[in-house]
Amino acid sequence: MNAADLPATNGDNPDWDSGTAELGHILMPGQLDLSHKVILYLEDITVSFDGFRALNKLSLTIDAGELRCIIGPNGAGKTTMMDVITGKTRPDEGTVFFGQTIDLTRLSEPEIAHIGVGRKFQKPTIFENHTVFENLELAMKTDKRVWRSLFATLDSAAGDRIAETLQLIRLAADADRLAGLLSHGQKQWLEIGMLLMQEPKLLLLDEPVAGMTDEETERTGELFLSLAGRHSLVVVEHDMAFVKQLGGRVTVLHEGSVLAEGSLEEVQADQRVIEVYLGR
Ligand SMILES: Nc1ncnc2c1ncn2[C@@H]1O[C@H](COP(=O)(O)OP(=O)(O)OP(=O)(O)O)[C@@H](O)[C@H]1O
Ligand SMILES: [Mg+2]
Repeated sequence: MNAADLPATNGDNPDWDSGTAELGHILMPGQLDLSHKVILYLEDITVSFDGFRALNKLSLTIDAGELRCIIGPNGAGKTTMMDVITGKTRPDEGTVFFGQTIDLTRLSEPEIAHIGVGRKFQKPTIFENHTVFENLELAMKTDKRVWRSLFATLDSAAGDRIAETLQLIRLAADADRLAGLLSHGQKQWLEIGMLLMQEPKLLLLDEPVAGMTDEETERTGELFLSLAGRHSLVVVEHDMAFVKQLGGRVTVLHEGSVLAEGSLEEVQADQRVIEVYLGR
């Protein structure tokens, strides 16, 4: 496999569906159908915790290849929304569709991860006692025993993918370093690289630049911009400079529903958004 075989840069390429098709016999969710150019539909999602509605009839859609930012005050329901998409929390009401046909509320957390939804938590979960290279190798979803014994030539292709990812996450010079020795920002990038090794179609990133230096934050923005198109990204952030750098559509969550949506300039000018969030 070479770069040309990696997931395509948009929904027009049939390669997009290969990962799901492969697993169809296990999951039977059908192929990821991006014919309407939409990768994720949340409709009327309600999640209650002891009577308190963390999500309240939340509806939103994410286009295939889109880079979307989600902002909003603490407790607005941003993380809960990601919990619902990834199957960690089941909605009391509402539907979650991955493409046109895959109902995520019917799949388990591992199944959702397997069909192409990757999630990055705030604290990196890397193997500190392994090198950067080994971390990426371990994250690859292919059965390594089969690759090594039967398809020796594919080993170099796997190596190529790791090399490509190392470039992307700017850790090529650190490939042989122990992951535990990386800076906070580099560890975050490594975890993103590990997610990418699983070839997710949709990436969910919850406060990815929290604790990063300004320079690391800017580099992370460049990385996300380079991933958009090939992947769809949903980024929850409080850092408005970072949201501005990403430049895509912004959804403002408040009390478990969408308060506003548009360009950053548009939502920043919205009086309701200023009142509940930006003007605090
Ligand atoms: N497991 C839970 N049990 C009870 N309440 C919860 C649970 N998870 C979240 N909540 C509540 O739901 C609301 C939404 O929380 P959530 O973590 O989704 O907000 P958020 O938008 O991610 O906020 P922040 O910007 O602070 O991360 C909060 O009031 C929170 O206390
Ligand atoms: Mg949160």
